[in-house]
Amino acid sequence: HKNLLVDPFGRVHDYLRISVTDHCNLRCVYCMPEEGMKFDPDHRLMTYEEITEIVQVLAPLGIKKLRITGGEPLVRKGLDRLIEYLSAIPGIEDIALSTNGIYLAQFADRLKASGLTRVNISLDSLVPEKFAMITRGGDVRKVLEGLQASYQVGFLPIKLNVVLMKGVNDNEVAQFLRMSHEQPIHIRFIEYMPIGNDGVSWKTGYVPLSHVLDTCTELGWAYERHEDIYGSGPATTYQLEGAAGTFGLIRPISDHFCGSCNRLRLTADGHIKACLYWQDEYNVRQHIGDTAAIESLFRSALARKPQTHEMAKALSGEAQSGVPTIRRMSQIGG
Ligand code: GTP
Ligand code: 5AD
Ligand code: SF4
Repeated sequence: HKNLLVDPFGRVHDYLRISVTDHCNLRCVYCMPEEGMKFDPDHRLMTYEEITEIVQVLAPLGIKKLRITGGEPLVRKGLDRLIEYLSAIPGIEDIALSTNGIYLAQFADRLKASGLTRVNISLDSLVPEKFAMITRGGDVRKVLEGLQASYQVGFLPIKLNVVLMKGVNDNEVAQFLRMSHEQPIHIRFIEYMPIGNDGVSWKTGYVPLSHVLDTCTELGWAYERHEDIYGSGPATTYQLEGAAGTFGLIRPISDHFCGSCNRLRLTADGHIKACLYWQDEYNVRQHIGDTAAIESLFRSALARKPQTHEMAKALSGEAQSGVPTIRRMSQIGG
């Protein structure tokens, strides 16, 4: 119907990613500088009431899926209260969380009770020392406890995100694949994107994800395409023969999925980003209290949403047709 959030390329937007904080309890090398970030003072973060009001405006326009991101969303106090508010909004069918998993064991029960439907956990290495290196001090056992807690409370499906970096964790593909064979989990390998990188240079760290399928071939492990796992995410899904879970490839650089983009983003300080990559932002917080103005700002953001990013051009240094974002991933939420 005519109220939907459609952009000039006919893409219908039904998925909003909401960043609730730019703080994080880790400092992954691809996401934050070693010295940390100058964080937004808390009073600049949108309140849960403000976020809820924005979603109340968007749900009648066809937004059905929400994803809570950060920074690390679980460092924000009382997140279960926000999830309760959001799950009460008519039309919202799915509320997912993207988390580093460190606090998940602690909060899984409360999150489930508040209406959270599922979790995507970031885990870039299964080797404790390497995990600590990538996250600058994180304890992989906590994440694995978080994963167990997720199974226990019954978040479904459970997805694990692995950003592959050359010379860092590209030698762990077989172990992650094995995990997808043994457990009912959906491992998604992600191509490293040139957005606010610091500790591992994107130009030397990028690995095309053909590497994952090559690894299967080298090991003689049979795999097939699998139907996509619930969620409207950007992964192409595969399954090893006889596996309990699946593996997916998210290839923003080598095979971008912009043609089917259904995502809008809200930053923790209340700006709309219609595309992850470009700088364009719209301050929606200033319109709190004015439903018509909120809707109209989302429509303006969509009217100017680019057809695609130009991340591949960052490698060749070719001129781009817009200005890439200067925000870090920790400020956008991926
Ligand atoms: P599902 O709904 O469960 O499939 O989640 P998702 O894949 O949309 O979300 P998640 O937070 O797990 O993101 C996985 C990876 O995909 C991250 O590296 C994101 O930055 C990346 N990603 C998600 N949406 C987009 C997008 O619109 N464009 C690009 N380039 N990358 C995206
Ligand atoms: N490239 C690809 N994925 C990234 N993420 C964070 N930064 C990058 C990047 N530069 C991932 C996180 C998390 C998801 C939300 O985004 O690892 O799993
Ligand atoms: Fe959508 Fe932009 Fe991501 Fe492409 S890069 S899929 S247009 S958000």
